[in-house]
Amino acid sequence: MTMPSTAPDPELPATEVENGGEGELEETPAATRTPDQWWRSAVIYQIYPRSFADGDGDGIGDLPGITSRLDALVELGVDAVWLSPFYTSPQHDAGYDVADYCDVDPRFGTLQDFDSLLTRAHAEGLKVIVDLVPNHTSSDHRWFQEALASPEGSAERARYLFRDGRGPDGSQPPNNWQSVFGGQGWTRTTRPDGTPGQWYLHIFDSSQPDLDWTNPWVHEQFADILRFWLDRGVDGFRVDVAHGMAKAAGLPDYTPPAGTGSMGGGVTLAPEIEGHAAEDPATPPYWAQPGVHEIFREWHAVLEEYEGDRVLVAEAWVDPLEKLADWVRPDEMQQAFNFVYLETPWQAPALRSVIDESLAAFGGVGAPSTWVLSNHDVVRHASRLALTAENPQGAGIGPKSPGQPIPDIGLRRARAATALMLALPGSAYLYQGEELGLPEVIDLPDSARQDPTWFRTNGARYGRDGCRVPIPWEATAPGYGFNTSGESWLPQPGEWTRFARDTQLGVPGSTLELYRLALELRRSHGLGTGSVDWLPGYSEQVVAFRNGDVTVIANLGTTPVELPAGEVLVSSDALPEAVLLTDSTVWLHTL
Ligand code: NOJ
Repeated sequence: MTMPSTAPDPELPATEVENGGEGELEETPAATRTPDQWWRSAVIYQIYPRSFADGDGDGIGDLPGITSRLDALVELGVDAVWLSPFYTSPQHDAGYDVADYCDVDPRFGTLQDFDSLLTRAHAEGLKVIVDLVPNHTSSDHRWFQEALASPEGSAERARYLFRDGRGPDGSQPPNNWQSVFGGQGWTRTTRPDGTPGQWYLHIFDSSQPDLDWTNPWVHEQFADILRFWLDRGVDGFRVDVAHGMAKAAGLPDYTPPAGTGSMGGGVTLAPEIEGHAAEDPATPPYWAQPGVHEIFREWHAVLEEYEGDRVLVAEAWVDPLEKLADWVRPDEMQQAFNFVYLETPWQAPALRSVIDESLAAFGGVGAPSTWVLSNHDVVRHASRLALTAENPQGAGIGPKSPGQPIPDIGLRRARAATALMLALPGSAYLYQGEELGLPEVIDLPDSARQDPTWFRTNGARYGRDGCRVPIPWEATAPGYGFNTSGESWLPQPGEWTRFARDTQLGVPGSTLELYRLALELRRSHGLGTGSVDWLPGYSEQVVAFRNGDVTVIANLGTTPVELPAGEVLVSSDALPEAVLLTDSTVWLHTL
């Protein structure tokens, strides 16, 4: 029986939005942007090294483990990998606390292991992007240790943001800034004689002191760090906290206006995380300050010293998108993560708007849009899209969180959302394990949790451990094949057999095969370099567009949608009676 289709709506106009602003290219000052640059349409797979594959069996993933599994990523069909930090680090923030930017932490291997990984990846046709963490170092870094050992006012102290405390005895922090992870953003030092000294700023954990980017010395160090990895052959950098390095002069107090932080549905940012346009009175004095752009221009020039196309991608929690577009102006970064898209609720009108806005904003400066649904900082989208209560970014979900996700709905929506995302022109980011349909792990024992957010909020926020659990490769192997010892730095759920890669490989309709097929078709139909041509005649609850010769229909409503004529290329769900059921996406080949 054919279910009734959603009523056509003749009021909805057909509109077209070009990708990447290729029409803008002639106007861009740098001759460095061409339509064929690989990163414009690349699908980039995030590897979180400690949870991807563990070569030595100590329970923490490592570089040899990654190298041994690269063939799986080639088989998946991605173009590049981004490696989260593997540098020397005490691991107070899972490696985003770097103690030596130019060496590999022994937990992850050696520089030789990195070189082998890079060589192997390049031989397999995969580009490799590494993480750059410039807002802060680890407190174990030699620069900070030297600063602590040096007198107040010294050149060593000027690398960081040391300030006298307020109050008669300096016992109050220099301003009221809070740490993103909870608690105050300043820690007081102790002088060699045991008396209390100056304070230092840490927008994140107290083990992550912020660098002072007004100091030219800091600029020189990071240019050298970039060259160190570029000399080794990396294809680019993901830049951590790329909205945070410049602070407003004088480090003024900041009180978030009441009601800031909400993205208006489904997901809410913790107020201290959200970035705003710098001229917006709600802009915290530590986010999205104009001074960051000079830094990006310097780094852009460093990348230009090297042959070939290289990419800087900004991790910048900045909205609106028109403001974020400043991060990818022609002489700055090449890409910025589209977190506005990630945070868009699973609602068709909101998705249509954010797609239009993304293509217009990024295209307006000659940059491709990016698309992303999951990473190591957010609740996995197979759970997030089925949450029924607001969930501030960084809060995570645990056993006591309100609005627990409904797993079946979450997976359906995740598959549909991914199929929609991979049909969009631009560059897409995948997070390890999403190709298996992994949900957030909600019931981690408190004793296993490691995110500093958990500790700094005394358990009020669960944090991000739930999306960081080592991924399952083989259903019946110890640790699901993460290693051969069965050790795992976070416990893996007992019921992950069905998500294991070998359970899904070659099984039609599995999430892994959905990703593989969509990636293959994305490539063969040139969707990454195409355009979005909205299709009229569908209900408000349907996202429908053409990209080249592919028609994409996502049904977010409850009424089944009748399929138009055309060969079905891929579908996130079975298509009974040629209708598209709720929470599913189909691609059709149409001439
Ligand atoms: C963003 C990273 O993605 C996150 O994991 C980290 O905790 C903070 N920046 C601080 O480096």
